[in-house]
Amino acid sequence: MLIVEHPGHRPLYHHIVDELPGTRVVLVPTMGNLHTGHLTLIRNAKALGDMVVVSIFVNPTQFGPTEDFDRYPRTREADLVLCREADVDVVWLPSVAMMYPEGLEPDQQFAVIPPRALTQDWCGAHRPGHFAGVGLIVAKLFQQIRPHVAVFGEKDAQQLALIRRLVRDFDFPIEIVAHPTVREADGLALSSRNQYLVSAEERQAALALSQVMTTVQRLYAILQTTRPGQAVAVEWAFEQAMARCSPSWPCTVPIAWDYQGAVDNTSFERQTYLSPGSRLLVAARIGSVRLIDTMALISDA
Ligand code: PAF
Repeated sequence: MLIVEHPGHRPLYHHIVDELPGTRVVLVPTMGNLHTGHLTLIRNAKALGDMVVVSIFVNPTQFGPTEDFDRYPRTREADLVLCREADVDVVWLPSVAMMYPEGLEPDQQFAVIPPRALTQDWCGAHRPGHFAGVGLIVAKLFQQIRPHVAVFGEKDAQQLALIRRLVRDFDFPIEIVAHPTVREADGLALSSRNQYLVSAEERQAALALSQVMTTVQRLYAILQTTRPGQAVAVEWAFEQAMARCSPSWPCTVPIAWDYQGAVDNTSFERQTYLSPGSRLLVAARIGSVRLIDTMALISDA
């Protein structure tokens, strides 16, 4: 396994790739603290090409001033062990100085300005500047690693939509593959931030995200059978789901919802009424952690 962590390693990597013409390079970009979700994604990435590159970089420009950049878990040695076990070919481990040689001040950088239409709502509305940071770092990783395929988790649905647009608008010759969300048996989506859930009650409260969406899915399926053709308002469906689920949530832990809603799965436009192509989106703060989750309205599971 080649570890690229100094500027001097980059020519070596490019030499290897250049020496292997026809090699299909698959990039799995991460911020480290690898868990089963990442490992499932890495295992599937191996089937998409010949050489898997995992990048590990906690990107400062995508964290707001009040967000968890400093406490974001950095577990370099454990991540390297997991990458080795998963038979990763290259780990891309740049430093902040390698990624941002002129420092982090915005007036020292070229910027990637994401389309407002894609970022003004949902997480974009709650995390100003976040998607500009993601767009910038992903564009840099694409240039450095020159993958043929890049795999992103479906859980970060708005990020995925943004990256698909980045690739299209900047003509990156890269295929973007969405990897389905990996969940615990009880439905909690795997995320590095789950470790901030400090008590059993917070862990139980976190199930609210998946529960409310599976309840909307069930409600929609029932209405499709009992009242076919009837329009189902997104807001009403979530109200009904909340009324059904919330009695089972622990009363000791408040769940502060940032949003609940639906977008068209292809265009990512906000929807007022559910449709077979809807994607449900939720985000909530539980204790000190902000969690997000998403499901297609009609689950393909
Ligand atoms: O989803 C993530 O882990 C990050 O946003 C990414 C894509 C690695 C960019 O820093």
